[in-house]
Amino acid sequence: MTDNSTRRFRSQDWFADPARSDMVALYLERFMNYGITPDELRSGRPIIGIAQSGSDLSPCNRIHLDLAKRVRDGIRDAGGICMEFPVHPIFENCRRPTAALDRNLAYLGLVEILYGYPIDAVVLTTGCDKTTPSQVMATSTVDIPAIVLSGGPMLDGWHEGDLVGSGTVIWRSRRKLAAGEIDEEEFLQRACDSAPSAGHCNTMGTASTMNAVAEALGLSLPGCAAIPAPYRERGQIAYETGRRIVEMAYEDLRPSKILTRESFLNAIRVVTAIGGSSNAQPHIVAMARHAGVEITAADWMEHGYDLPLIVDMQPAGRFLGERFHRAGGVPSVMWELLQQGVLDGDCLSVTGESVAENVGARPARDREVIRPFAKPLKEKAGFLVLSGNLFDFGIMKTSVISEEFRSRYLSNPEAPGTFEARAVVFEGGDDYHHRIDDPSLNIDENCILVMRGAGPQGWPGSAEVVNMQPPAALIQRGVQWLPTLGDGRQSGTSDSPSILNCSPESAVGGGLSWLRTGDIIRIDVVTGSCNALVSDEEIARRRAEPLPPVPPSNTPWEELYREKTGQMGEGAVLEMAVKYRGLAAKTPRH
Ligand code: FES
Ligand code: MG
Repeated sequence: MTDNSTRRFRSQDWFADPARSDMVALYLERFMNYGITPDELRSGRPIIGIAQSGSDLSPCNRIHLDLAKRVRDGIRDAGGICMEFPVHPIFENCRRPTAALDRNLAYLGLVEILYGYPIDAVVLTTGCDKTTPSQVMATSTVDIPAIVLSGGPMLDGWHEGDLVGSGTVIWRSRRKLAAGEIDEEEFLQRACDSAPSAGHCNTMGTASTMNAVAEALGLSLPGCAAIPAPYRERGQIAYETGRRIVEMAYEDLRPSKILTRESFLNAIRVVTAIGGSSNAQPHIVAMARHAGVEITAADWMEHGYDLPLIVDMQPAGRFLGERFHRAGGVPSVMWELLQQGVLDGDCLSVTGESVAENVGARPARDREVIRPFAKPLKEKAGFLVLSGNLFDFGIMKTSVISEEFRSRYLSNPEAPGTFEARAVVFEGGDDYHHRIDDPSLNIDENCILVMRGAGPQGWPGSAEVVNMQPPAALIQRGVQWLPTLGDGRQSGTSDSPSILNCSPESAVGGGLSWLRTGDIIRIDVVTGSCNALVSDEEIARRRAEPLPPVPPSNTPWEELYREKTGQMGEGAVLEMAVKYRGLAAKTPRH
């Protein structure tokens, strides 16, 4: 049981302010209309928010509508009072022009709710990609006790005896469609078969990655991230999460005590080991910046790049979420890293114990899925950070580079790891779709496909469009991949060997803005350089010309987003927002 004798919660500044009985009456009375009593609200027990991210518009998180019942049971049993409220929906696959616009919008909304209402601690219900970072960012700004409850991945998808994973099946099947191996009907059936139950993407896409990151950061109960949504353990951990947040309220265990530079470096290490999404880069940087922690470009190389990929899960490997959970999930991955001394085990977590104490002795139960550190799927499998005259910062997810790609582009014995390719430049996704099969572009194995206008300002929001596939004619000849490069992102479920998140983006005058189709780009994956072989004089001449056009803002938020949001390398946060931290220390005026 928790010690509830001494602590005065901020909610009592609403419900028990002796100096303002007029306001207290006003704050209290409307909660009566669904059966709450004044005694409950004035009892001094903590009021626990459940930030409800599930809705019909957020199918990946919809399981939380049910899970919240078990969270409430836990909160009540531990002595808290529950208030559930909605957060702005985010659905990665369906939101146009991109769900990336919603991360910062949901962040803003949640900050205002947690600051302006009588909430003492909060359960964050996460799932679909950006639902995790947006809520974690907001709790750092407000800094009240917070715990992450993942909704969990869907069950494994099967199609005619093969595992078909969310998103990954789309990218693989569209190549088969282009090659003439399947028709449209088969394409749709494979996609539907990849989504057999409630839950978020069952691959190691951005959703599973960000929930694993939350667990690695110490923000959720051990083992929470990987439990598939329909499993009985999911409801059980929802109950335990509800119990634990009440204790955290009494202990005043806030995000600022958990989120440190060391915990973020742990998250970077775990992302490499699991083959996590390239979207982890902007999201980790964004969460760190809102927590007041600096993560530099060098950190990705020093703490992430050299580590091996040990989890065999799509898109970098073969399996899906159910096998990963049964193999031991995130605790077993962290155990493996702790054994090697590459994780900081002392970081504090929501349990009140260190991450090493949480993990305990949890060797993997299925060595086919979670490999021993010494026998990984790939060595040096982290994000390679690149820079050069086209951008200051870009990343390549090396764990998905296929052997076919390596042998074609990276096996020159005279210049190991170096290749040159002729740029074919596209102005956003529509331009790519209209022109990719245009024979006059003469796209062959020596080309690199470049996407610009896809960053935070250009799209706006930044879009998952850099994983462009080769023209159908090339795929029919057996070329599955061309190198790609762009100022947008790619889906975490993609297996494309892309250079992504390039900052600064074309729309703000980054180097991609002056690149032309036909320019030769030289990439060195050993030194991390990427340069267009264009003379300084020619670059200066081109820079004098207008920037490539971008579409106008179509909504008020798009305009505001463009005005306030920075570049992908810096997490694409609302730059004016990072200075606000620890809001809950000051109660808002009546
Ligand atoms: Fe929502 Fe993948 S689309 S989790
Ligand atoms: Mg995505």
